[in-house]
Amino acid sequence: MIYVTRRAEFSAAHFYHNPNLSPEENRRIFGKCNNPHGHGHNYTLEVTVAGEVDPTTGMVLDLKDLKKILEQEVLQVMDHRFLNKEVPAFATAIPTTENIAIEIWKLLAPKLSFGTLHRIRLYETPDLFVDYYGE
Ligand code: NI
Repeated sequence: MIYVTRRAEFSAAHFYHNPNLSPEENRRIFGKCNNPHGHGHNYTLEVTVAGEVDPTTGMVLDLKDLKKILEQEVLQVMDHRFLNKEVPAFATAIPTTENIAIEIWKLLAPKLSFGTLHRIRLYETPDLFVDYYGE
């Protein structure tokens, strides 16, 4: 088994709010991130696919194919979007880095026709990232 990772960047705005909590609790838990006007991040996404090397091509997958799927399934959905308002999943789920990584997994996993999705790593800042392995 070998692991191939492709990196992509996107920018998006969000805010944190749980409608089941009072305004005071939302402010206490989420602080500045609770501002409904939102704020932006430059996210770095790393998608890792696991597979075997095809003896004919010497590759697990065609990296151009992975790039295309990433652009179609993730970047077109999230890049330069206000996540809370423009991405259906975040009408209900809070668009934290954790939940964005989970949503990216859900978008990508069914679209891969080669290897298996192994890990979504999403950086919110260069110093902060989450890893999601599908469960
Ligand atoms: Ni934020």
